[in-house]
Amino acid sequence: MTDTDAAFEPVAARIESDLTELSGIRAPDHPGWTREVFSEPYRDARDWVAARMRSVGLEVRRDGAGNVVGVLPGRSPAAPALVTGSHTDTVNGGGRFDGTVGVLGALEVVRLLRESGTQLTRDLVVVDFLGEESNDWGLSCLGSRAVAGELRAEDLDRRDGAGQRLGDRYAGFGLDPAAVLAERWLTRRPLHGYLELHIEQGPLLEQRGAAIGVVTAIAGIERLLASFEGRPDHAGTRPMHDRRDAMVAAAHAVLAVHREGCGAPPPGVATATQVVNDRHAPNVVPASVRLRAEMRGIDAGWLAATKQRLAQDILTQAQALGVDVTFDWTSDNKIVPSARSIQDAVARAAARAGLAWEAVPSGATHDAAHLAPWCPMGMIFVPSRAGRSHCPEEWTDITDIAAGVRALADTLRALDAQEDLVADSR
Ligand code: GLV
Ligand code: MN
Ligand code: MN
Repeated sequence: MTDTDAAFEPVAARIESDLTELSGIRAPDHPGWTREVFSEPYRDARDWVAARMRSVGLEVRRDGAGNVVGVLPGRSPAAPALVTGSHTDTVNGGGRFDGTVGVLGALEVVRLLRESGTQLTRDLVVVDFLGEESNDWGLSCLGSRAVAGELRAEDLDRRDGAGQRLGDRYAGFGLDPAAVLAERWLTRRPLHGYLELHIEQGPLLEQRGAAIGVVTAIAGIERLLASFEGRPDHAGTRPMHDRRDAMVAAAHAVLAVHREGCGAPPPGVATATQVVNDRHAPNVVPASVRLRAEMRGIDAGWLAATKQRLAQDILTQAQALGVDVTFDWTSDNKIVPSARSIQDAVARAAARAGLAWEAVPSGATHDAAHLAPWCPMGMIFVPSRAGRSHCPEEWTDITDIAAGVRALADTLRALDAQEDLVADSR
């Protein structure tokens, strides 16, 4: 048995204890486990993560983009580094496992390496990426986007529903917006590979009785902000045939989005996520309504065709109601396949550990998608109970998390030992 074949047994109780501590840091006045980007609980949680990284023996820094970065030095400082990690922000009313499992799992890997006296050839870089969840500025994965050089100056001028500039929000969080844009470390140093452990957030692994998901691709996303402008009128006196009701136009759009999702090739989906009436008086015909919607899939042709069809459908319905509509496609996350070399390495590690695995696509997006242009990328999924996620009921058994950490540890050691990883996704 070679060094990389020897099993590392994660200590489930340690991971569970970390999870419990981190889960305790949340917004008390929000449902579920809420730690939204730039919030005070999020700031506290990341201080906790930095301290925990230090306590397991990582050299810790905050990069200019707001990511918490811990490095476990390898034997050959010149060798391209291996990167792992995830995020610790949550959606409003979210759960305890989305993102945190990848960060805390990586810390357990570091403990196992140090306790066994194993020094990797390469540096192991553990990252808690800033603000992975989508936000009111319509941009997910803030930290990984920035280090990949994908965050643009004009993105900092985006405004949220309350009119606040994204750049000002960064500054309020103690980050210099110019430094955020300049922090492009992914583009400046060669990396060996990126591997992220994450909960599946969907039902496939549970349905198929698999402990490990080998992620084949991360779905692409088209996000739409449609603004409907009608005419305000007295809701009690304006006759029905003489209205320009923006809410009705938005309602048609909600159903159009839903129809597109129902007709999508699996695992494609489409969701209208927000409808906001900017005047919201209870007795006024709605005149200014904003709709947010998103479509996801791993079929580029479907995504492109749906975008066009949907815009035409929404426009036609709005015109028939005398309502103007403008479209702002706020992000276009491309479909990102995982590297074949890393998929194979994860599958081999799972098989060696006697863990049943399945190849699955990811409907959720991840920081991994923004690492992929810069190094071979792969992801390991662990099952989500009943496929629930982005809600307080989100749950993954600690034994399943420990199995995922074992696959993460074994795969990272195997990747470390390989000379060159092929980024090829075929
Ligand atoms: C993140 O969880 C996303 O897929 O929106
Ligand atoms: Mn996540
Ligand atoms: Mn999420």
